[in-house]
Amino acid sequence: MKNSYQFQHRHILGIEQLSTTDIIHILDIALSFKEISTRSIKKVPTLKGKTIINFFFEPSTRTRLSFEIAAKRMSADTFNIAASTSSAQKGETLIDTARNLEAMNPDIIILRHGSSGAPALLTRYVTAGIINAGDGTHEHPSQALLDMMTVRDHKKSLEGLKIAIIGDIAHSRVAHSNILGFTKMGADVHVAGPATFMPPHVDTLGATVAASVKEAVTDADVVMALRIQKERQDDPLIPSLREYAQFYGINKSILKHAKPDVLVMHPGPINRGVEMNPDVADGEASVILEQVTNGVAIRMALLYLVMGTQGAEV
Ligand code: CP
Repeated sequence: MKNSYQFQHRHILGIEQLSTTDIIHILDIALSFKEISTRSIKKVPTLKGKTIINFFFEPSTRTRLSFEIAAKRMSADTFNIAASTSSAQKGETLIDTARNLEAMNPDIIILRHGSSGAPALLTRYVTAGIINAGDGTHEHPSQALLDMMTVRDHKKSLEGLKIAIIGDIAHSRVAHSNILGFTKMGADVHVAGPATFMPPHVDTLGATVAASVKEAVTDADVVMALRIQKERQDDPLIPSLREYAQFYGINKSILKHAKPDVLVMHPGPINRGVEMNPDVADGEASVILEQVTNGVAIRMALLYLVMGTQGAEV
């Protein structure tokens, strides 16, 4: 990487806006931060005095908590606000709420929202850095970054890997961000799932649509299963969960077609026995909890970079 490189993103809205160099830089910074979480005193002063607001309109365990842990490990002051306990319940609009948050002078607002484009909208109304923690069916950039970090930890490079993503591609912001991210990094992404879960534009993102799960998984370096996003579907798009598990669930038998050193991934939360069998989720090939560990490091890197504190003492 050239010495003149400077990370220039004030906001993290999606993988779409990040270059390959940006992604490598984020993964490298995250790797250097990962060790902090293993210390007995898990705190560095890097973001001391900075104010970070976690603003979540949808449920979250991993993303909300890991952004909060990341901010606290860097000594920032963090505050959580959920739609269910905010004045959004009284009819306040997203923009009005954001303007009121802005009036309290935060440095970064982390937003999860059910509407695609909500974080991009906020950038027009607030001066704080905005990090997209998942917007509708659009993008979940920090998830894709932690997924790429996890694969890179094991495979050294993403170039030329076969990545199989199985399940509800159409409604999954994780799938969208991962297809963009892994293809930018030179991997070969194959997707499989019921036709009703396959978006019409998926090949334009760079993914190959496989005719079957077996075809997608054959010789794969990585198999990632996705949860059915029921919250984004008005009517059921599959006949039954039992049939879904039978034809699209990741089990030991289908994994035999993948490479012997395949990595099994899932962004969580898992519906065990539906998109993935418990013996696979908890099996030797699973790196699902490593994904969660890397999530803290990636979010530390994103907060650091968005704050523009490159070169500060860590
Ligand atoms: N992967 C993910 O976004 O999990 P949460 O919904 O728990 O944040």
